[in-house]
Amino acid sequence: MKAKAIRIHKYGGPEVLQFEDVEVAEPGEGEARIRHTAIGLNFIDTYHRSGLYPMELPTGLGSEAAGVVDAVGPGVTGVKPGDRVVYTGRPADAYSEYRNFPAWQLVPIPDNVTDEQAAAVLLKGLTAWYLLKRTYKVQPGDPILLYAAAGGVGSLASQWAKDLGAVVIGVVSTDAKAELAKANGCDHVIMADNPDIAGAVRKLTDGKGVAAVYDSVGKDTFMTSLDALRPHGVMATFGNATGPVDPVAPAELAKRGSLYLIRPVLFDYIATREDLVAAAGELFEVVGRGAVTISINQRYALKDAAQAHRDLEARKTTGSTILLPT
Ligand SMILES: NC(=O)c1ccc[n+]([C@@H]2O[C@H](COP(=O)([O-])OP(=O)(O)OC[C@H]3O[C@@H](n4cnc5c(N)ncnc54)[C@H](OP(=O)(O)O)[C@@H]3O)[C@@H](O)[C@H]2O)c1
Repeated sequence: MKAKAIRIHKYGGPEVLQFEDVEVAEPGEGEARIRHTAIGLNFIDTYHRSGLYPMELPTGLGSEAAGVVDAVGPGVTGVKPGDRVVYTGRPADAYSEYRNFPAWQLVPIPDNVTDEQAAAVLLKGLTAWYLLKRTYKVQPGDPILLYAAAGGVGSLASQWAKDLGAVVIGVVSTDAKAELAKANGCDHVIMADNPDIAGAVRKLTDGKGVAAVYDSVGKDTFMTSLDALRPHGVMATFGNATGPVDPVAPAELAKRGSLYLIRPVLFDYIATREDLVAAAGELFEVVGRGAVTISINQRYALKDAAQAHRDLEARKTTGSTILLPT
């Protein structure tokens, strides 16, 4: 069948995104064909587009979407046509009206969650889940530092961290984002242009530093983040908004008090059906009881994905952003 999709034939800026006709095959063994109703926009999509995370070209884009199962291939028993599902994963082809995807990676959307909310929360919410509950397991009273606290992952992680009892210190770039971060549960907010973020963190933690830093900004903030940690603190560098982090000598961890450094990736935490279902269950539990609310603050037509990329990279977006197939 024919469908519309965003594809790229070369790496580059948002201008390389093309809205094209594609042929979607019948689902193969273990696959389901999904009619997308809402697509999640994520910063990783910009890394795929720019070539920071290389893919074989030409390719689609997009690592998260919600929709309805349209058809299933041989051997699929877990889902059937008509089921509402959401997924995150590879290959990146979510910027499309229809696509085939491995059925084992499909998560049923709970009745109390809309398709738009599901597409807005799965990838970012599962990221918040693994960061706070696996990478460094937040304990009540732990001070933590979180960058981009009004962004997609940041908005969800701030709320979830607060629910776990953390003292949440958020970093944001504007006053409007500071208000959002506070509404998300940040106890303290530091402005991103503060020349001494680590010093500000120490003032807020009786000179001790934080138990963990969740740093998605990357290159520009890495050393500052190490400086903000208490001895034995955990540095989770999980994104590259300012570019990939430079190589670092292990001695930098030693001289700041036996720090731990991890570069985690969501897909390693949901690599089996069992792990994915358990993680999604925890996410939809906090959403269901209202501890974590989903803010969809931007919506774009799928064909306008390039504008969505421009706005995301220009730090104009807050909360979650979705793309809507027409
Ligand atoms: N490793 C993983 O498993 C994983 C999974 C999901 C996401 N991530 C990472 O998590 C981060 C957040 O993803 P998201 O989709 O939720 O995006 P987002 O947080 O909604 O947007 C990125 C935010 O980063 C901040 N930022 C700081 N410096 C920036 C710069 N030079 N250019 C652009 N933004 C800058 C901005 O917030 P301020 O203006 O407030 O500074 C911006 O709003 C990304 O780095 C992404 O790669 C990693």
